Amino acid sequence: MTTLFDSIQIGGLQLPNRAVLAPMTRVSAESDGLANELMRDYYTSFAQGEFGLLITEGTYTDEAFSQGYLNQPGLANEAQRDSWKPIVEAVHAEGSRMFAQLMHGGAQTQGNRFQQRTVGPSTVQPAGKQLSFYGGEGEYPVPDEMTEDEIQQVIAGFAHAARHAKDAGFDGVELHGANGYLLHEFISAEFNQRSDRWGGDIEGRLSLPLAVIEAVRREVGNDFIVGMRLSQGMVTDATLKWDGGVEGARTRFITLARAGLDFLHVTEGDASAPAFEEGGPSLSAIARECVDIPVIGNGSIATGEQANRLLEKGEMDMVAIGKAALANHDWPLRVRNDEDMTRFNFEMFIPMATLSNEKAWRQDNQEPSSLN
Ligand SMILES: Cc1cc2nc3c(=O)[nH]c(=O)nc-3n(C[C@H](O)[C@H](O)[C@H](O)COP(=O)(O)O)c2cc1C
Repeated sequence: MTTLFDSIQIGGLQLPNRAVLAPMTRVSAESDGLANELMRDYYTSFAQGEFGLLITEGTYTDEAFSQGYLNQPGLANEAQRDSWKPIVEAVHAEGSRMFAQLMHGGAQTQGNRFQQRTVGPSTVQPAGKQLSFYGGEGEYPVPDEMTEDEIQQVIAGFAHAARHAKDAGFDGVELHGANGYLLHEFISAEFNQRSDRWGGDIEGRLSLPLAVIEAVRREVGNDFIVGMRLSQGMVTDATLKWDGGVEGARTRFITLARAGLDFLHVTEGDASAPAFEEGGPSLSAIARECVDIPVIGNGSIATGEQANRLLEKGEMDMVAIGKAALANHDWPLRVRNDEDMTRFNFEMFIPMATLSNEKAWRQDNQEPSSLN
């Protein structure tokens, strides 16, 4: 029976266990997108807590439209690349592996220091209000429909950033195709209303993520790990479902995996809930059944029992932990030692989800701190 503490291989990379830190934006980089010491201490604490794999927060890929949040870190230039090196080194020294999540903000962009306007596949405005805990305010702007040149710039940006990730020492990259950001918007029937080769039916809507995978693969070679994160819901609309039901999901997973991915990362509000019909399979179970690369599952997994149950049932190969990891930077260690978990408290994000706020909140509340 598979458990959390069994090792696993992704591509040629051996991981010590199946506990993954989910990617989480913390808007705590320098204003020019450089990663800093506070981030190093933050990521190192999860490695010390025995997460076998850390996935970074969404990291922007170019100096055009990809930056989604002010104080988001980047991998768009050499200075940003170099700023990640001490972080990756410190995480490796603790025995964990680390992937960079590469992200283009698309229409959900709310803070970009290079551009005033936002872009997306079509002029579809995201619902709801910008996220105040990332410094946003008011409605999202209506994005401009991307031109062919701008699409080519996106593809080149992902490839370039993946090269920077490899040169910074990361073990792999995760392409962010989830949560409503640009690659997800291109896949989405709601957001992609294009009639050119980048839109139309599901095959057309997968064209941009496919082009990105191919360009990244060409840039980093076959030995570097490349995966993709996918979700149905978006930051701006958690209720969205993929068109095509289970079959549509299979088409997405199979087509993307075949393009050269080493893993898929599937996130839902509740990782164990049926993806479509009552009583049907979860989204990660659908993925796992139709591809032969490892599947990371994520969504409301808080305890070791939950994680082990999902692994034992074969719903996923690895579990990614988000909020429960913020509450317990040493989540895997606590599972192993059968220790109580601290409950996640959203107050650590008030007024913003920064690392310095987390640190101050921990001091004020005498919450055990794993941040130095
Ligand atoms: C503060 C915060 C920041 C997040 N930032 C990202 C991100 O940068 N990239 C991403 O793919 N998901 C991001 N997410 C989503 C998480 O990776 C995860 O999918 C979500 O929290 C659900 O998992 P959980 O129930 O284990 O927390 C973020 C979530 C939180 C709470």
